[in-house]
Amino acid sequence: MKAFVLRSYGPPDLLELTDTDAPVPGDDEVLVRVRATSINPYDWHNMRGEPYIARLMPGGLGLRGPKLSILGCDAAGQVESVGRDVTQFRPGDDVFALLEQGGFAEYVTVRESLLTPKPENLSYEQAAAVPMAATTALLGLRDAGQLRPGQKVLVNGASGGVGTFAVQIARALGAKVAGVCGPQSADLVSSLGADEVIDYSTGDFTRTGQHYDLVLDVAGTRSAAACRRVLTPKGTFVSVGGPAGRWLQPAGHVFSALAVAPLVSQRMVMADTARCTQKKQNLETLTQLIEDRKVTPAIDRCYPFEQIPAAISYQEQGHARGKVVVAV
Ligand SMILES: NC(=O)c1ccc[n+]([C@@H]2O[C@H](COP(=O)([O-])OP(=O)(O)OC[C@H]3O[C@@H](n4cnc5c(N)ncnc54)[C@H](OP(=O)(O)O)[C@@H]3O)[C@@H](O)[C@H]2O)c1
Repeated sequence: MKAFVLRSYGPPDLLELTDTDAPVPGDDEVLVRVRATSINPYDWHNMRGEPYIARLMPGGLGLRGPKLSILGCDAAGQVESVGRDVTQFRPGDDVFALLEQGGFAEYVTVRESLLTPKPENLSYEQAAAVPMAATTALLGLRDAGQLRPGQKVLVNGASGGVGTFAVQIARALGAKVAGVCGPQSADLVSSLGADEVIDYSTGDFTRTGQHYDLVLDVAGTRSAAACRRVLTPKGTFVSVGGPAGRWLQPAGHVFSALAVAPLVSQRMVMADTARCTQKKQNLETLTQLIEDRKVTPAIDRCYPFEQIPAAISYQEQGHARGKVVVAV
């Protein structure tokens, strides 16, 4: 099979397009013919081995070299074959999954307990946009954020992968949504259902005088202290991510928000999708929202498989309008 293999940390052009054996599914695994994948910051953090601090964290990146050999945490495709203990899937079924790795290849093995039928109304490319980004938005709003109908939520970074799902999921949960984004994406964020759009190039969302029950901080462009100015006294700040750095960021930004939690009246929490244990259940919830037409993936660009390094370079710039997907 064709696969992009990561042999050492570095920029996207170090990913090596190789011909290698397809993996063999274990008893509880399914072999999936990947038809589409998508690009996430998770991929290029693992690719570059940055921030360096994450190489030291338990369960983080590899200390001396990459822990993962084939990147790609989103996959949508078709079941090719199943292990002997698999009961819920058959060859030919359309599926999607949130993986630790393996999406940047023609085939990947997935534990049955992680695999979910693909939403019927989505193409493979659309479905591949969902797992990491939409799960993060769902965890941030519903679980960490405990968002309730009628509440007001502000999404900082509303126009990217996580943000475009967050705006729609917040609306589906019955909230009023303000989205912060750049000038080129205001129309997109508005079309996704945001009640208010704040252009970060002309306005500072921490100085509007408005108050929100929940701030979902995807972009991490302002300090938690500044964000707390727009929170209600009992509001919740959910840290999702922030600008990337070589040594510490975005981990430092997330943990500095958590550090003040014992000292303030508001809840200061984070979303952690990689460590989430309910990946399949969350994809089932998202499938329901998608099939009910409450959530639709916003796709910026679709690249052919051979151009995965170019797709990563584009996504890494941090201004994609929605998701960057790859047809495999
Ligand atoms: N905690 C977790 O489990 C988890 C899971 C997934 C992702 N993440 C993190 O979440 C973050 C976003 O991921 P993503 O996939 O959504 O990335 P993305 O698609 O690149 O989105 C980046 C967002 O940041 C916005 N942005 C850039 N500069 C900005 C500025 N100066 N002020 C305000 N917003 C600005 C962009 O808006 P414009 O394009 O309009 O400029 C865009 O909405 C990353 O840090 C990622 O590592 C965390």
